[in-house]
Amino acid sequence: MNDKELVKIAIDAMQKSYSPYSKFKVGAALLTKQGKVYTGCNIENAAYGPTNCAERTAFFKAISEGEKEFAKIAIVGGKDGNITDLFMPCGVCRQVMAEFCDENFQIIVALSEESFKTFSLPELLPFGFTPKNLS
Ligand code: THU
Repeated sequence: MNDKELVKIAIDAMQKSYSPYSKFKVGAALLTKQGKVYTGCNIENAAYGPTNCAERTAFFKAISEGEKEFAKIAIVGGKDGNITDLFMPCGVCRQVMAEFCDENFQIIVALSEESFKTFSLPELLPFGFTPKNLS
């Protein structure tokens, strides 16, 4: 699975977004170290607070299936599903990544299969509070 393929899966996952309030559709594709992909989309709620981001949907699907080791995640999104800009994952999703991923975990934010940027987790969440703090 190369990065381009992972981005394509994230773009497809975005189509499933349930976002009637913000109309901002997000898709994610999470790759395990064993090579399996879990997809996610954002799922909004009339009460707003229960909204779940696409990244966390993908993580929680994978964790609930017993996955523990993750290599990278591709993320795309845009108003009405039009991907016009890169956007970075929210702080809550970064914290969830820090719970389950090591410092080599890569976050790919994409405009298209041809255009994307890659960041490491420490770049996006420096000085994070992690399970190590509680050990
Ligand atoms: N959203 C995500 O799915 N991921 C992020 O990293 C940022 C925001 C969603 C949540 C909400 O449904 C919509 O985008 C607007 O905030």
